[in-house]
Amino acid sequence: MSATAVIGLQWGDEAKGKIVHILADEHDIVVRYQGGNNAGHTVVCEGQTYKLSLLPVGMLRPGVVSVIATGTVINPQVLLAEIDQLRSRNIPVGENLLISDRAHVILPYHVAEDAVLEDNRGESAIGTTRRGIGTCYRDKAGRAHAIRMGDLYHVESFQSRLREIIAQKNSYLRALCPAYEPLDASKVAEEYLGYARLLKPHVTNTTSFLHKSLAAGKKLLFEGAQGSLLDLDHGTFPYVTSSNSGSGIHTGSGVSERHISRMIGVVKSYTTRVGGGSFPTELNNEIGQHIREVGREFGTVTGRPRRCGWFDAVACGHGALISGVDCIAVTLLDVLSQLDQIQVCTAYEIDGERTTDFPSHVEDLARARAVYKTLPGWKQDISHIRKLADFPREARAYLDTLAELIGQPVQIVSVGPDRVQTIFCDRA
Ligand code: IMP
Repeated sequence: MSATAVIGLQWGDEAKGKIVHILADEHDIVVRYQGGNNAGHTVVCEGQTYKLSLLPVGMLRPGVVSVIATGTVINPQVLLAEIDQLRSRNIPVGENLLISDRAHVILPYHVAEDAVLEDNRGESAIGTTRRGIGTCYRDKAGRAHAIRMGDLYHVESFQSRLREIIAQKNSYLRALCPAYEPLDASKVAEEYLGYARLLKPHVTNTTSFLHKSLAAGKKLLFEGAQGSLLDLDHGTFPYVTSSNSGSGIHTGSGVSERHISRMIGVVKSYTTRVGGGSFPTELNNEIGQHIREVGREFGTVTGRPRRCGWFDAVACGHGALISGVDCIAVTLLDVLSQLDQIQVCTAYEIDGERTTDFPSHVEDLARARAVYKTLPGWKQDISHIRKLADFPREARAYLDTLAELIGQPVQIVSVGPDRVQTIFCDRA
């Protein structure tokens, strides 16, 4: 078994990118297997900050091959802009990037429809990133309107299917939103065939590549996007993303989890959420504001301020179970350093009943009141600490509490954005 997985256990933005970047050194191939340019990974390396959305973080490590696998949805225009951005910073993009010919393509009508549907939802808007992610996945499930990367290289059938699809999308979107500007199918086809030409050297059967690589003893690292609580099937439906962000490695890459020997669940030392949906430990007060400012909790993709709250062990415990992680990485521990006391949610009370089961219905979650355990803060800067033993007693007690509540050992602790601000507990 020669693969590792890194999966967020909260509502995304757990700083998975940093963990993947470090672990990429010990792996040959980094695989993105779900989501699209709704994800945002920030990596700080040697004083440089890189923000990646669709490209795997493996792109930033020399000698590593990055794979955008079958379960992702690809906006080729965005992908090409991201590639250009890396090249302009002298990061090579060539044989080190492979894109699945089975991945689905985000077209302009997906983006338009995402926005129209969100606007029409009013108060109950999901708060999507408006990147056409959910609408593309819906067309994938519906099949009739789906276009995959491989279709872009079957020019005639692509052009004729796109004509039919765009005619239907135009009338549907016009009915939903009179201000919608109809798309010209031949212009869209021309534009996308241009993208296809540029991406051609990278597009391949990634499933076959991954299996051949495993057989040759290569080490794979699966890079999760979003977090388990945004998983389409197991998250806080309908306030979720449209892919299996907690449970999708096998379907998204074509590689079974039986090849994975280490599943790392990444959690922030507190909780954040972007977009709508219940959040039992949300802090709408000066502590929430403090966490947002110190943790720089603003979306990488949309710039939206993130909602902030205490660590929620009920929600994370659920995320850990559905993702099947066997250890955790706690990130942004330094952000809590100035607090006198820190609270951790250990259970919910719903209609007077105490439970540690994460509710499956959004209305039950909305009625959940967090039951807290209060721990002392450590009130000192920990961002320079490089060994577990050097942490203040209170910080170690906090980590022990998280491990106990989630039921998995803490293997990695991060105390700042830079690579060097990372402690491997079994090496410290
Ligand atoms: P969508 O993925 O754009 O459809 O958005 C659905 C929900 O997932 C919204 O609440 C988004 O804010 C959230 N979401 C999508 N991607 C991310 C991410 O990378 N981090 C955090 N939240 C995300």
